[in-house]
Amino acid sequence: MSYKLMYKPLTDPQRKVIGEILKRYGNSEVNILNALLEIQDVLDEKYIGEEVCEIVSDQTGIPMVELYDIMSFYSMIDTEPRAKFKLEVCDCGSCYLNNSETLIKTLERKLGIKSGEHTYDWLFELETCPCVGACDIGPVFKVGDEVFGNLTDERIDEILSELYQRRDQVV
Ligand code: FES
Repeated sequence: MSYKLMYKPLTDPQRKVIGEILKRYGNSEVNILNALLEIQDVLDEKYIGEEVCEIVSDQTGIPMVELYDIMSFYSMIDTEPRAKFKLEVCDCGSCYLNNSETLIKTLERKLGIKSGEHTYDWLFELETCPCVGACDIGPVFKVGDEVFGNLTDERIDEILSELYQRRDQVV
């Protein structure tokens, strides 16, 4: 079963952080991509929605239509809400041969979701990804910049538990 995220208005602290990030990038079109990526990263749902776009447009003077052009061009910018922790299982050559499919099934079972879905609390989502360059410890999955390999059932439980403990941290 999959779930759709409810639209959540930005909080005042989130608005403030967005404003600060834009200011740090000079409130201009220069480096707007980096500013958008950083904003996306600090927001719980990991996406640039309309409300964020309005703030960016107001503060930088970049028209909304131009922002949408930029966001649709760069696939690393999400325009739909994402879960806090995106678990990406490498399903390329070496990992595939080392049973990445079993790892996907294990994570699906532990999280109670299928690949491509997210948990009801929007904490975890599961996807596949290309090689992350850690073939020697595969199969692996990554969460942001962290890559996890040499996995046992016990180790997977530990990782999920560690991530759960970080649920309230700004990532
Ligand atoms: S094939 Fe999975 S990390 Fe390289």
